[in-house]
Amino acid sequence: MIPITPLEQAGLDRAARLLRNGGLVAFPTETVYGLGADATDDRAVARIFEAKGRPTFNPLIVHLPTLSEVEKTVAMPPLAYRLADAFWPGALTLVLNRKQRTGLSRLVSAGLETVAVRVPAHGGARDLLRLVGRPVAAPSANTSGRLSPTEARHVADSLADNIDLILDGGPCRVGLESTVVDATGDVPILLRPGGVPSEALEAIAGTPLATAGDTDAPASPGMLASHYAPGLPIRLDATDAGSGEALLGFGNPTNNETANLSPAGDLVEAAANLFRLLHDLDDPARYRGIAVVPIPEMGLGRAINDRLRRAATPA
Ligand code: TXA
Ligand code: MG
Repeated sequence: MIPITPLEQAGLDRAARLLRNGGLVAFPTETVYGLGADATDDRAVARIFEAKGRPTFNPLIVHLPTLSEVEKTVAMPPLAYRLADAFWPGALTLVLNRKQRTGLSRLVSAGLETVAVRVPAHGGARDLLRLVGRPVAAPSANTSGRLSPTEARHVADSLADNIDLILDGGPCRVGLESTVVDATGDVPILLRPGGVPSEALEAIAGTPLATAGDTDAPASPGMLASHYAPGLPIRLDATDAGSGEALLGFGNPTNNETANLSPAGDLVEAAANLFRLLHDLDDPARYRGIAVVPIPEMGLGRAINDRLRRAATPA
């Protein structure tokens, strides 16, 4: 059993001590739970890849408590400052060029010259980062390819005993991973849709987002076709449940649905509920599959649909 402790001062102190000594600690952020390690410690970072079964070509996000800590790690062109001012702390990850002599393990970049950095908004996460006093590498705290965790119990269910502690801060407010944007140039490149909608990013950037396919920038190595997947098959754009299927609705509740992402049709609420409801419905003793009704392709709906499409793609 992985020890779980509430996110209070004693738990934070214990978590920070573990991280400073090369341990692995799962902690809540406003997006999803992260599996943290000291980003300056090669062995600790290597343990993340091992614990998740994560391919080593897939780089990690480095979490920092403030913009001034970020500035020590990566070069910030004007576009990066504009996005950081508007969305940090928050659910945005910026891919930027790494500075020399940062002390960061090379493993976090998986061989790239860039580093993904994020200043999270979650108060407990920021307290932890300040206590550790070092950059913390943290992917989502799940087995690679599976559903992301939005509650402490999801972490305990997904990872084996080879992590040291789970800090339980309750459910995550946003419920979807951060939006990942390459901000090394003049035009932002969307690498992964997420908790900050594209429309909001474009309004601040003053230009449409490019996508990795439009440019010669390397795509986000983590964007595999099959990802975020529960054990049961997922069927999209369903109008009704097939035999033995659970039906996941959105808006306009109906009698035959098993659960609803947001009866009011609110995409923010749907995002916050997505992974929890998929975790709950992913029960082969009760269902043969999960059918999901159409979700509008706008705002957070884009990130929800991105996750659902990958979840529906067989591994
Ligand atoms: O909300 C989140 O982003 C959560 C919390 C814990 O912060 N973390 C998270 O990490 O979702 P992870 O490892 O599951 O996803 C990180 C994504 C992957 O798609 C990875 O390929 C991409 O970011 N990424 C990381 N570093 C990159 C880099 N240098 N260049 C391009 N993509 C990068
Ligand atoms: Mg992940």
